[in-house]
Amino acid sequence: MKTLDTILLAAMVTWASSAMANDSATLDPGKHVFDKWCVSCHGVGDRKPGTASLAAKYHGSIPAALEERTDMNLDFIRYFVRNGVLIMPAFRKTEVSDADLAALSAYLSHQKK
Ligand code: HEC
Repeated sequence: MKTLDTILLAAMVTWASSAMANDSATLDPGKHVFDKWCVSCHGVGDRKPGTASLAAKYHGSIPAALEERTDMNLDFIRYFVRNGVLIMPAFRKTEVSDADLAALSAYLSHQKK
């Protein structure tokens, strides 16, 4: 039964941490969208394909992780999200709605128009 206890404990920890993550995500709806659709490729760290690809593209002249960038405006973000690039898929409105995209772009652009 020790295995079952361990599994239950692991499940509870997972549930608790995702509940806490959801709490902080409600502070910024754009962050919530980013964490759902983008962070797997664009999170901080060299094991993320989007971050690694942008590090190579810009040779470190600007931050490789999107959340650390300050140069992106709303149109730039919208373009890439709706069209994709290289291995990045285009996101449909059934995945990232226009409202989600507005929140996401505001979050990543720091409101640059
Ligand atoms: C499957 C992995 C993947 C996912 C998921 C993904 N991207 Fe990307 N993204 C990439 C790659 C790879 C590039 C291309 C980098 C390059 O040009 O070298 C990229 C490029 C971009 C660029 C262009 C940056 C630049 O300066 O050229 C933006 C903006 C961007 N992604 C935003 C997003 C957003 C917002 C999301 C979530 C809705 C997202 N991406 C999801 C992999 C991904």
